[in-house]
Amino acid sequence: MSAQNPPPLTLIDQFNRKINYLRLSITDRCDFRCVYCMSEDMKFLPRDEVLSLEESARIIRIFASLGVTKVRITGGEPLVRKNISWLFHEISTIQPLKEIVITTNGSQLAQHAHMLKMSQVKRINISLDSLDPVLFKKITRTGDLNKVMLGIDEAIKEGFSNLKLNTVLMKGINDHEAIDLVNFALHKKMGISFIEEMPLGDIDHKRKDTFVSNNEVLKKLQVHFNLIPTTFSSGGPAKYWQIANQSTKIGFISPHSHNFCDTCNRVRVSSKGELFLCLGQEEKIELMPLLRQYPDEDWPIQKAIIESMTIKPEAHDFNLDTTKPAVVRFMSHTGG
Ligand code: 5AD
Ligand code: SF4
Repeated sequence: MSAQNPPPLTLIDQFNRKINYLRLSITDRCDFRCVYCMSEDMKFLPRDEVLSLEESARIIRIFASLGVTKVRITGGEPLVRKNISWLFHEISTIQPLKEIVITTNGSQLAQHAHMLKMSQVKRINISLDSLDPVLFKKITRTGDLNKVMLGIDEAIKEGFSNLKLNTVLMKGINDHEAIDLVNFALHKKMGISFIEEMPLGDIDHKRKDTFVSNNEVLKKLQVHFNLIPTTFSSGGPAKYWQIANQSTKIGFISPHSHNFCDTCNRVRVSSKGELFLCLGQEEKIELMPLLRQYPDEDWPIQKAIIESMTIKPEAHDFNLDTTKPAVVRFMSHTGG
């Protein structure tokens, strides 16, 4: 019998979805306290409960060995983590990875844009909910719009062509800015995605009171812009529209009004090393104890990840009408 290579390891769940995308939160901390994301007196994890940067890099390497080709670094705010450049450099050396992307609030982007470019980061998603510095401060509670603007310009200067804004609109707060935000994206030649507020974690207002559906946003934009539907997909849940002769893609991420779970290709690892199989469900396995028990052996961790495919839920279960959040953990815990 001739010696043959074993078949490559892949992650396929019980609904036959191939998992090739990992979203890794490297910190639950953030320098902002956006009102839809966090409560004002947010408590963060003690540092020793958070994955070290070495452990974070190891997790990515292990997922890459299981056929994951895309990784998104999220938080909290990933760029507030100390020695973040070490991690990005490390990730850039992981061979089978095709796409490294990051989600950031932009507050530290001006200092890090060059490092991200050097680390082969392909795309940057930047959260931006208002162009008015006073309202921006009100929504983020601590944020300085000017710093985010500098970050955006620095990323453009570095030659990032795939920049995208993420916007959460809230009724009576910033929903009047939809058109201005699209105009800003057009002016900067960036994409923009509108994300419906999701019931993750207990915050200081009732989400039902501020909820704006993406159908409303789309209708408002259609009065102003000649929007053309596209079949473009970034491999995620967004539906995209375009304006004639413009490169900007306008996306709508609508967990409530559009169910995107049947094509789900992703899993998330929290900054505590919990592998969450769905953003909106509780199913998880703990990777931290395994990482610490087997510092030199990847197989037990690979095996646990492969086995977790049997508990990946078919769909999330968001419902704004209930008084409780769909899941008690915050987006900053699971990773956005
Ligand atoms: N619902 C919807 N979007 C949220 N974000 C954070 N918390 C929530 C929530 N509860 C957004 C951030 C960021 C993106 C990753 O997720 O604004 O842009
Ligand atoms: Fe921080 Fe992002 Fe949450 Fe705002 S939405 S508090 S920037 S993690």
